[in-house]
Amino acid sequence: METLLYAQLADTLIAQIRGGVYKVGDRLPSVRSLSKREQVSIATVNSAYAILEERGWVEARPKSGYFVQRAQSVQIGKPRTGEVTSKPRAVSTKELALEVQREASITRSRNFSCAIPDLQLSIAAVIQKTLTRLSRQGTALGQGYDSTEGLFELRQQVARRGIDGGVHVSPDAIITTLGAQNAISLALRAVTKPGDIIAVESPCYFGLLQMIEAMGLKAIEIPADAETGMSVDALKLAVQQWPIKAILCISTFSNPLGCTIPDNHKQAIVNLAVRHDLCIIEDDIYGELQFDGPRPKTIKAFDPDGRVLWCSSVSKTMDPQLRVGWIAPGRYYDEVLRQKYTNYLAAPSLPQAVTAEVMSKGLYDRHLRQARLAYKQRSEQMLDLAERYFPQETLASRPKGGLVTWFEMPRRLDMTELYHQCRDLDIRIAPGELFSVSGLYRNYFRLNYANEWTPAREQAVQSIGDTLKSMLVSR
Ligand SMILES: Cc1ncc(COP(=O)(O)O)c(C=O)c1O
Repeated sequence: METLLYAQLADTLIAQIRGGVYKVGDRLPSVRSLSKREQVSIATVNSAYAILEERGWVEARPKSGYFVQRAQSVQIGKPRTGEVTSKPRAVSTKELALEVQREASITRSRNFSCAIPDLQLSIAAVIQKTLTRLSRQGTALGQGYDSTEGLFELRQQVARRGIDGGVHVSPDAIITTLGAQNAISLALRAVTKPGDIIAVESPCYFGLLQMIEAMGLKAIEIPADAETGMSVDALKLAVQQWPIKAILCISTFSNPLGCTIPDNHKQAIVNLAVRHDLCIIEDDIYGELQFDGPRPKTIKAFDPDGRVLWCSSVSKTMDPQLRVGWIAPGRYYDEVLRQKYTNYLAAPSLPQAVTAEVMSKGLYDRHLRQARLAYKQRSEQMLDLAERYFPQETLASRPKGGLVTWFEMPRRLDMTELYHQCRDLDIRIAPGELFSVSGLYRNYFRLNYANEWTPAREQAVQSIGDTLKSMLVSR
């Protein structure tokens, strides 16, 4: 609990500095008075001040106390919404996407390219232990195939957790999958045929775009706002103009924007789907990674008649290696189940059993509390570092959950070139061009902030900033 307290206190102090309660040069309350005022230990206050000092907010002066060093001198604005694309397009395969994915696990200390959670958090040991124990007990192995529906205990846990997001389905309405990507792939196979048009948010996680291409589908890009996600007006226009088959969107803390579609927009998207008889494939993979407050509602929560296929996994909350995901496909249940059966019969039960057990014992919730706080602080620190080291022209999204931030640079800069220059420095970023089917985001890039900030990672962000500045000078 103490660890949470100092972090919370540091957040409060930063908010006060940002809000102008303390200005640059002001002396902050002494350790003793703050400890008294906030009713926390001296050690807690010292740790909070250490965070502020490490992040460059305050300066410690011997025998005098802590003084505000900066109050966010460069205010990073939010990136602009993309343009409406005029027509559906085939997605072209990008070697770059494979390259970025392939390099996900290398040079982790300087790798910001993939949307991977911090795999050093304590849940890793819990997974390891549970896996070892269950495999020793002979759970799953030596018992033949799992059912195609998937392990009941996991479906039960998913049904219980879904309630927080407004999803009210029974375990029998859920099918387990090999991660969220697989859930979405089964959903697309169930509701489309080659040549069909899918409405996707723009920018959109490139794994989904690649999948659309692999299935011979077309994507129409609907611009997304950095705070409120897919534009309902643009979607309305697109739906009137094109024979769209399905809407695919990452409803909460999207990748790459980190944005969340507000409830009234979620309702409007569902209304539109009803009016035009479309289905909605909802990728809710980041839905439980909110920084504050309750978990946002899903689109599925507004589903009146089973047209929303709700997909998620534990890849962002536990470990992508588990390959455990699920889908609640509503009225498309039979077709999705058939797709799973004809594609791979059944999923391995051991990872499902591990996930179910970790969830049922409350260890998952405990971990989520720790992860949310860590990611909140790390995202703020990412923005602090960007403010300190990136060019003045930088625009950045301010996620309220999830794992990634989206940066915009002046149009004349090519972030695929930044990717290559960073690669030479052994730093990895995700270039913006991957997130569109029509080359919209060449001056954007995405960074993952989930891992703990170390001097090496901070140095890497500074190097990205230096590279950007030298690119600006030479253009
Ligand atoms: C939005 C989104 N959906 C799906 C996936 C893939 O998820 P999984 O590993 O569960 O297949 C990712 C991974 O980056 C993602 O960001």
